[in-house]
Amino acid sequence: MSAPAARCDRTEAWAALRGHYEAHGRDFDLRDAFARDPQRFAHFSFEAPELFADLSKNLVDVATLRFLLDLARECGVEARRDAMFAGAPINTTEGRAVLHTALRAPRGAGPFSDDVHGVLDTMLAYAETVRDTAASGIRDVVNIGIGGSDLGPQMVVPALDAFVHPKIDFHFVSNVDGHDIAPVLRRLDPATTLFVIASKTFTTQETMANAHAARAWFVARGGTDTAKHFVATTTNVKAAAEFGITTTFGFWDWVGGRYSLWSAIGLPVALAIGADHFRALLAGAHAMDRHFADTPLEKNVPALLGLIDVWYRNFHGFGSRSVAPYHQGLKRLPAYLQQLEMESNGKRVDLDGAALPYGTSPVVWGEPGTNGQHAYFQMLHQGTDTIPVEFIAVKQPTHSFGDLHTKLLANCLAQSQALMLGKTTAQALTERAPTASRALDADTVARHRTFPGNRPSTTLLLEQLTPRALGALIALYEHRVFTSGALWGINSFDQWGVELGKALANDLLPRLASGDTTGLDASTAGLLARLRS
Ligand code: F6P
Repeated sequence: MSAPAARCDRTEAWAALRGHYEAHGRDFDLRDAFARDPQRFAHFSFEAPELFADLSKNLVDVATLRFLLDLARECGVEARRDAMFAGAPINTTEGRAVLHTALRAPRGAGPFSDDVHGVLDTMLAYAETVRDTAASGIRDVVNIGIGGSDLGPQMVVPALDAFVHPKIDFHFVSNVDGHDIAPVLRRLDPATTLFVIASKTFTTQETMANAHAARAWFVARGGTDTAKHFVATTTNVKAAAEFGITTTFGFWDWVGGRYSLWSAIGLPVALAIGADHFRALLAGAHAMDRHFADTPLEKNVPALLGLIDVWYRNFHGFGSRSVAPYHQGLKRLPAYLQQLEMESNGKRVDLDGAALPYGTSPVVWGEPGTNGQHAYFQMLHQGTDTIPVEFIAVKQPTHSFGDLHTKLLANCLAQSQALMLGKTTAQALTERAPTASRALDADTVARHRTFPGNRPSTTLLLEQLTPRALGALIALYEHRVFTSGALWGINSFDQWGVELGKALANDLLPRLASGDTTGLDASTAGLLARLRS
């Protein structure tokens, strides 16, 4: 794949956006925008498969979007998107195609279809045999993996709790810290436990260390038939065999780790929700793929979100974005998105390796609502930084506590409303503040109780958190990250930044045993000595 048509900061649209920001963007006020345009909600909300996106509470007007769309076209985002779907090696630094979309394409519809559907069919058939608990005897599944070999299944299984097999418990071990695996194993019986060793490379230190620990525990606790109780999901079938695993579900180097949920790495999800629901998850993602591939950018929701991300990062200078899923099942979504977005777009050089003069990935973070409201939302409302917030609301719950759900939704709406509307000092003065100190005068109290407002948010609405809807939601985020990465002219599909720490850890490992601090910086040497004393 060739470089984008132009790097974003060298385009006419970038200059136009800079001028637009100075003239209208810096002082843009959401409250005025809604007052000026009674149709603003309709004008800035969009439909995509399985979800509705309200972008109207963002700091954009018609001209902003027009310039951003010009930017996308000048940067060749559509051509790069098409190249990705076609299997061009757009991951240039590793010389690889980027084809997670092929994993959810219907049979015969995408690249490598026979390979993809061959593994999928085999994996789903296997999952059904395990789910037959009377025959398999399996009651606990432990996924051992890290990063992309952990975060996807770990996020999806609780999200789809209503669809999960009632007689199997799912556990996720990722950290090389033994405090992760120890409490899991303490509660398990080898005879009823299935370990899934998930690693694209089958060389990752944490995963291999935990896999060896699990096997040692299995044998020590009298486990028999390792072949039945250990399976692998990996591109490195040979290494899995060397470990002694005979049941392996493979995938390919054109599946990036953080995009691998849809591959054999999704095995724990298939074990949890079964073959039909797993296929529905894939179908939802595929529907979003078609939306991203076929919808004009003007109504293309992932593309619009990626464009607004660039507007916020590079023109408003916002360094972070908070994700607030108002669904407890999505409690791990922020962690999943951290890898997806920050490992993809946390890059400082363009495709040619030249240092970038502009910011790339924001910090992505969050917690489910309403919990976050009682923790960090104070800062979102009254802190010195503006942090765009993304609310995710689900209309229909999968539980029967209707009152709770209504309260949840009211809170979700109230937060985006409060962020936008704020509260003036004059308004605060008219209100009673029974808990305020009587030692302070009313004006001072009112200033503390003032909210600046005009704080942007996006709200994504899902009808119900079904496998299909979740698949669409995750694919939406993948394509949004693709869009902002393509605009920034970076390689969103490598992760060289994780290498240095890995290499240094390998150097330090024997030093922790030997105490040798030769050649170390004084701080690391001092800490190492203290850890050994
Ligand atoms: O953290 C770096 C990384 O390579 C991620 O990109 C990847 O998801 C994770 O490690 C796990 O790698 P593997 O699946 O090969 O064990």
